[in-house]
Parts: sequence; C-alpha cells; structure tokens
Amino acid sequence: MRKLDVSPSLLAADFLHLDKEIARVEKAHVGYLHFDVMDGHFVPNISFGLPVLKSLARRHKLINDVHIMISDPLTYGPQFAKAGADIVTFHYEALKTDAERWDVIKAIQHAGAKVGMSIKPQTEVHVLVDFLPQLDLALIMSVEPGFGGQSFMNSSLAKIVFLRDIIDRHGYSTLIEVDGGIQEDTAQLCVRAGVDILVAGSYLFGHDDFNERVNKLRIG
Ligand code: DX5
Ligand code: ZN
Repeated sequence: MRKLDVSPSLLAADFLHLDKEIARVEKAHVGYLHFDVMDGHFVPNISFGLPVLKSLARRHKLINDVHIMISDPLTYGPQFAKAGADIVTFHYEALKTDAERWDVIKAIQHAGAKVGMSIKPQTEVHVLVDFLPQLDLALIMSVEPGFGGQSFMNSSLAKIVFLRDIIDRHGYSTLIEVDGGIQEDTAQLCVRAGVDILVAGSYLFGHDDFNERVNKLRIG
C-alpha cells in the first residue's frame, strides 16, 4: 500500500510566529514542510527566500520540501539546496530547452538535495516523462502558481493518473505531489487518482483544528 503524506505550505502560516506554526505541523505527524519561494518574475508575487529557509530548515525534523517558483533555477536551485532544502522542486516552464532542465537537475543533485520538477496547469504532463527516472518528485500544480487560497482545477487529476501509471509500470521511485486548492473533497479526488503527497496551505493554517484537518486529508 502506498503511504499518503501531507506537506503543509508555510505560505499560509502566521509569519510573526513561524516557530509556533512549525511546532503545530510537527505535532500533526506529517512528513514534510512546504516552502513556496516566489521571485516576482516567474510568478506575479514575492514570498520569501534563502534567509528564511536557512533559519528554519534545521529547527525541526520535517523534510524541507522547497518549491521554487523562480525564473533562474540554475543559479538559485543549488543555493536553496545548500540553505537546507531536502528537496528542491523547480518549474519545467522556467527553462527553454531540455538540456537546460537536465543542467538544473544535475546542479541541484550536486548541491546535495533531491530534485523535483513541477508543471503549471496549462502544461502537458507528458513533458515530464523523460525526466522521471532522475526525479525524486513530480509536482502537479492544481492552481496557477503565485497565490494561496485558489480553487482546485480538476484538469490536474488526469495528469496524476497518467504519472501514477508510468511510475508504477517502470518501477520508478518518483513521488507524485499535488499543490493548490487542496481540502477534504479535492484531497479525496487526488488520492483516488494516485497522488503520494498533498500540499495544503489555507485549508490547514489559520484554523484551530489543524490536527483534525490533516487527518481529514489523510482519510481521503
Ligand atoms: C501556489 C503555491 C501553493 C499554495 C497552496 O503558488 O505553490 O503551495 O500556497 O495554497 P492553498 O492550499 O491555499 O491553495
Ligand atoms: Zn507550492
């Protein structure tokens, strides 16, 4: 049986009390902590960067799951790896050629982190196929990246089904993660489609029943 996990997105946390927010995540017994890094160029929003990751990464036992929505992953991907990211996930769309994408994969691995590749809602899922043997994570965006609190796009489900089939048939170890608009009902759809990790921001943070909400996502 595949084990479903949850990666709470700090983007929706109370930035004044990040230590307390992370303690809440640890108490909920999830495996991951999701960092949404935005550069104001690849996406029309700016969140946080290297210093924030650096100060938080070693203060907990969660896997630092760093999603870089930035235009220059070749320069910054390795820097996030060195700042404490366990997994650095960059965007397929940030690069023009597959040769450049392979360079980013190698650079992140060389810097000591696992590597993920993400696609936006308008990008065809088959572009990921050739990279899968080298990817630790494939991240399907179920909203346009840039902002939390948007509605889940059902078009992501077929992408998850497609990847699940290829990964299982070839015996790849790539994990499938979905990000955007995850709450009880959409989590259930993603779990049925074959996802491994659910990213959730606004559904979890800002609510007193954080723990119960995580369990509701898990029940799926
Ligand atoms: C969007 C981010 C997501 C987002 C998820 O660009 O990648 O991680 O914070 O937020 P919710 O769960 O609120 O849709
Ligand atoms: Zn994200």
